[in-house]
Amino acid sequence: MSQERIALIGGTGDLGYGLALRWAQAGIPIVIGSRDAGRAQEAAAKVKAALAGGAAAPGSVEGFENAAAAAQASVVVVSVPFPAQAAILKSIRGSLKNQLVVDTTVPLAATVGGKPTRLLGVWEGSAAEQARELLPHEVPLVAAFHNLSAEALQDLSHPLDCDILVCGDDRAAKERLFPLVKLIPGLRPLDAGPLEMARIVEPITALLISLNRRYKVHHAGLRITGLPPDA
Ligand SMILES: NC(=O)c1ccc[n+]([C@@H]2O[C@H](COP(=O)([O-])OP(=O)(O)OC[C@H]3O[C@@H](n4cnc5c(N)ncnc54)[C@H](OP(=O)(O)O)[C@@H]3O)[C@@H](O)[C@H]2O)c1
Repeated sequence: MSQERIALIGGTGDLGYGLALRWAQAGIPIVIGSRDAGRAQEAAAKVKAALAGGAAAPGSVEGFENAAAAAQASVVVVSVPFPAQAAILKSIRGSLKNQLVVDTTVPLAATVGGKPTRLLGVWEGSAAEQARELLPHEVPLVAAFHNLSAEALQDLSHPLDCDILVCGDDRAAKERLFPLVKLIPGLRPLDAGPLEMARIVEPITALLISLNRRYKVHHAGLRITGLPPDA
């Protein structure tokens, strides 16, 4: 069993809540973060209620204001809308010591009133690289989960089927995330290369949104073929 404790910053929202649900189901201790401690506690109670009566005992689930949540975890997943990313990272960076930070941000134009199938330009090249500039150099950072449907995550009756492209400049940081991804059935972590590969991975989300709309589904995901069976 993993020794990690995961904080979901923005865990009251769609992706963070879905990840909290699936990791808690796998027995990982979870801390949900929010700008409002009360909202975080409500989301934590919702996770526990959703898993009550399930086959396996869920890990502990608690809720705190974002900075307090980050301080209590060993892995900090940031899942907030792009326009909020900088402010949220600044609000938690004082709490970061040896935690692994996982950025999930996609700079969708929809977050500023644009089309959901378009991306905003980011000066640094990607939201992940913006995160790198905002965090202390010594904080390990990877980018992942951009191409995973939050709706699929939240539907526990729905088997997941998606590759998780993990970008980062620190191999050890990526390898630390891999076993956590594998704890969620149906997800396969893949090393997608350096953090700058997020420039390619983040826009794939806009493509998946377009496919969802065209085929009238909500769970479009990504599978890479031709890799070794142990990838
Ligand atoms: N949804 C998906 O299927 C999906 C899939 C892959 C990647 N992503 C990416 O993951 C990130 C989170 O997506 P999401 O769909 O979970 O977002 P969301 O539900 O809209 O928001 C997530 C949380 O962010 C917090 N937040 C902090 N500052 C905010 C602000 N200024 N305005 C609004 N919310 C703010 C809110 O929590 P509090 O109000 O409690 O602080 C909110 O519950 C995004 O960057 C998105 O592109 C999403």
